[in-house]
Amino acid sequence: MRKIVYIFTPIFFIISILFYTLFSQNLWSSQPSEPSSKTNSHYQLSQFISPETCGGCHSEIYSQWQGSMHNLAHKDIIYNEVARASLVGLTNKDEIAEAEHCQTCHTPIGYITGYPLKTSDDIAKVADIAKEGISCDYCHSITGAYAVYNAQFKYAPGNGEDDPGVKRGPRKDAEPDFHLAEFSDFHTKSELCGTCHDVKHITFGTWLETTYQEWKSSPYSKQGVQCQDCHMYQRLGNPATGSTERAKNSGSAADGAKERDHIFTHYFVGANMAIPTKEGNKALLQMAEERLKNTVDIKIEPKSEGNSIVVRIKNIGAGHEVPTGLSNIRQVWLKLIAKDSKGKIIYTTGLPDDNGNLPNNTVIYTTIFGDGKGNPVDNLAKAKEIISNKRLKPMQEQIEKIDIGKFEGKITVEASILYRGVPQNLANSLKALKNMDIPVVVMKDVKSSVER
Ligand code: HEC
Ligand code: HEC
Ligand code: HEC
Ligand code: HEC
Ligand code: HEC
Repeated sequence: MRKIVYIFTPIFFIISILFYTLFSQNLWSSQPSEPSSKTNSHYQLSQFISPETCGGCHSEIYSQWQGSMHNLAHKDIIYNEVARASLVGLTNKDEIAEAEHCQTCHTPIGYITGYPLKTSDDIAKVADIAKEGISCDYCHSITGAYAVYNAQFKYAPGNGEDDPGVKRGPRKDAEPDFHLAEFSDFHTKSELCGTCHDVKHITFGTWLETTYQEWKSSPYSKQGVQCQDCHMYQRLGNPATGSTERAKNSGSAADGAKERDHIFTHYFVGANMAIPTKEGNKALLQMAEERLKNTVDIKIEPKSEGNSIVVRIKNIGAGHEVPTGLSNIRQVWLKLIAKDSKGKIIYTTGLPDDNGNLPNNTVIYTTIFGDGKGNPVDNLAKAKEIISNKRLKPMQEQIEKIDIGKFEGKITVEASILYRGVPQNLANSLKALKNMDIPVVVMKDVKSSVER
């Protein structure tokens, strides 16, 4: 009896360890802990190198990244005002927890090195390197992620300029002298981007931004077209969308380094035009416009269905829904004007009034969040549900039937799809944007005749 116990004990021991490891890993992957417990204050500010230093050799990449929304993520006036406003009037601790963790993604170096840990922390005390938003050494110190949302990254930064450590990127043959370099498959994939671009309410669990999930279920993910293939190929004149050629950008990654057939660009252009307008950054403005103008297609059916004009709209350019990201404040809408045979206007929809607001009959592609009882909320800290989510899915046709009332014979219909990053009434309520006309881009327009 005793012998058996002796033989079994070590085996049992080994089995329990195996079980423990498997079980705990399983737990780990199915219930990733929130970033606050995982990455909070684990690093020293002195470990990170300023983007200017990287720019000393990577001058072209540095100038592309400068002024990008990644560089401005912490300084962005719209972000700052919305973040401050989100904190006002909250009493529920779950809502406060959400409103207090914006800096996780908007000032990530600050967050992982211990300041600011809260949205309400004093901006003036934020270290210069953390004010630079999402910068070179932050992204290139990432090694992987625990889960693809809420910035749950794993990091291995170096120890400042004297010992910069390893910078991870797409090359297997890079031989820099200042720092070490390593190939990182993670940097070549959408998961790197998705770890910040999918945002989940930290207490209610509501999905607030889902760009990565939208991409994951799109035809682009099946074809292996990553975020980087559109967003890190773009430069002036080369919008690099799903409907345009994604032409390579030959050059060198560092001053004097070898020529390569493609160097990943770092403009990170989406659709933001309000901030580039405010900053006077004409190149980024033009690139956002070029991107938006290659995103949708629109067709008008030559025959009406009774009193209804049939319009077909298709997202042919974006690897995710349109709009994506903070889709509750972005507006994409259908403008339509119908004229009779004498040129007299008989119907309109989607024409902004003198204050820039859209009429009630407008078809708008956007997301509306609610408080859990069906009432819409603007403050996402209070978002317990999605009330409506009507957006343009990648490569799917959306059909709109617009009832224009009784009409006879042949009429002319002009239809367009428009984009603006901030509704005019929201802009008017923000100090920083007061009196600014929010740019509106015509993504696509058509004109044709329709018969009953
Ligand atoms: C998990 C990462 C993450 C967290 C946490 C986060 N954001 Fe963001 N935020 C993003 C991403 C990604 C975008 C870009 C999406 C887009 O452009 O639509 C963004 C964009 C924004 C914008 C748009 C800015 C502009 O110029 O149009 C605002 C406003 C904003 N966030 C506010 C907040 C506030 C307020 C909080 C805290 C309550 C917060 N964010 C927390 C990732 C995050
Ligand atoms: C003294 C010049 C110099 C400085 C400063 C410098 N680099 Fe580099 N880096 C290089 C060179 C040279 C290469 C190799 C380029 C090539 O092979 O195409 C390189 C390559 C890289 C790569 C690609 C690695 C790979 O394996 O794919 C990354 C990422 C990178 N650097 C990031 C950074 C970051 C982040 C900083 C600032 C913390 C920085 N570099 C500062 C010279 C420098
Ligand atoms: C938001 C994250 C992010 C930021 C910020 C960022 N990079 Fe990158 N960088 C990437 C990714 C991702 C790739 C590789 C893309 C791929 O392989 O698909 C890359 C590629 C590179 C490369 C290799 C380029 C090539 O084609 O050989 C260098 C060098 C580099 N980055 C330097 C920098 C420098 C310098 C900065 C700051 C001025 C910077 N990066 C900022 C994510 C980032
Ligand atoms: C550390 C978190 C983080 C990572 C990693 C990250 N982003 Fe972002 N990204 C943001 C935030 C936050 C913003 C919005 C900043 C703002 O508007 O204030 C943003 C903005 C953008 C925008 C501009 C959106 C607009 O409205 O114009 C694009 C495009 C973008 N990111 C693409 C990418 C791609 C592609 C990658 C991967 C290579 C990536 N991002 C990785 C956090 C991140
Ligand atoms: C097939 C090309 C393509 C791919 C792949 C792609 N995008 Fe985009 N992206 C676009 C186009 C086109 C736009 C402009 C239209 C729009 O605003 O949606 C855009 C806009 C954006 C915006 C601004 C959103 C807005 O509406 O204000 C963000 C943020 C963004 N992309 C992030 C990402 C991330 C993160 C991924 C990967 C998960 C990704 N994109 C994959 C083409 C692409």
